[in-house]
Amino acid sequence: MQSIGIKGIGYYVPENVFTNFDFEKIIDTSDEWIRTRTGIIERRFASKDQATSDLAYEAALKAIKNARIKKEDVDLIILATTTPDYIAQGASCIVQHKLGLKDIPCFDVNAACTGFIYSLSVAYALVNSKIYKNILVIGAETLTRIIDIKNRNTAVLFGDGAAAAIIGEVEEGYGILGFSIGAEGEDDMILKIPAGGSKKPNDEETVKNRENFVVMKGQEVFKFAVRVLPKVTLDALEQAKLNVNDLAMVFPHQANLRIIEAAAKRMKYPLEKFYVNLDRYGNTSSASVGIALGEAIEKGLVKKGDNIALTGFGGGLTYGSVIIKW
Ligand code: ACO
Repeated sequence: MQSIGIKGIGYYVPENVFTNFDFEKIIDTSDEWIRTRTGIIERRFASKDQATSDLAYEAALKAIKNARIKKEDVDLIILATTTPDYIAQGASCIVQHKLGLKDIPCFDVNAACTGFIYSLSVAYALVNSKIYKNILVIGAETLTRIIDIKNRNTAVLFGDGAAAAIIGEVEEGYGILGFSIGAEGEDDMILKIPAGGSKKPNDEETVKNRENFVVMKGQEVFKFAVRVLPKVTLDALEQAKLNVNDLAMVFPHQANLRIIEAAAKRMKYPLEKFYVNLDRYGNTSSASVGIALGEAIEKGLVKKGDNIALTGFGGGLTYGSVIIKW
């Protein structure tokens, strides 16, 4: 039987570091508040001339190199993002152009912070159906472009970054063992940008009211996350015919340390085995899980044969988990 998994992974974060102390200078907040409520200490901001596709391109080059394939071997690009370069053009197509590839299909996935996990699941199914061999999956965001820097409720939470992976055939018995994805659709203001879409195009009024930026009901997202993170991870483990004690590590969406702590407790799984880097990058939405895994692999923390879970939640509201034997 064909085994399908991650052949190579790479990530990219912009150089510009923005600390909690930098926020203290521009809004009514404190390092102490941000640190204790979220666990975030600093995050990366893309430079003015960096769009989402630029970050995605850098991560893609690393993933292609680590997968030891030629870029011409990539036969499909799936890019998960909430912040495409343009509303009316897929950022995946721009990445194809930057890579100098022609004719291969490209599409964007909008599943907010669960985007990378959704895209891995789609890529798995397409390789499994033998239609594609080397799918470039990317999660990339320039969230700072959709955040009101003057709104302390949201500004301090997010950062920019990208992660990419090549999905294809791997050594027998390794790779993706199971996944579970889902959504609890809503049209309340739990987590969205109210204006700029077809429902409420931007005009002077929406811009004046800052409706062109993310709004969020933080506590509702918090409760949702604590409820779905353990459940979807356990569902994916069941698909993989494993239980939580078989996991060497969990790579959760990096939104808030308190969410991860609560999920660990509910799953009865040690907190130390949850990989955390939100202190340095904040919440990078669809890039977060991939950046976490890419960084852990770079540090040699994931050993061959380890069972790991990638697990996330986000706007939509969406959630998902993928179990991989590395
Ligand atoms: N600095 C100082 N004070 C602040 C700040 C800030 N940056 N932000 C909010 N406050 C204030 C509020 O105004 C409020 O003041 P008040 O009591 O005078 O009204 C007080 O702090 C408490 O606010 P809460 O919203 O109750 O604070 P809470 O403990 O819930 O923490 C937080 C807020 C961090 C947003 C939390 O709810 C959370 O993390 N929720 C999940 C958010 C999340 O994960 N979002 C993204 C997930 S989906 C995705 O990634 C796209």
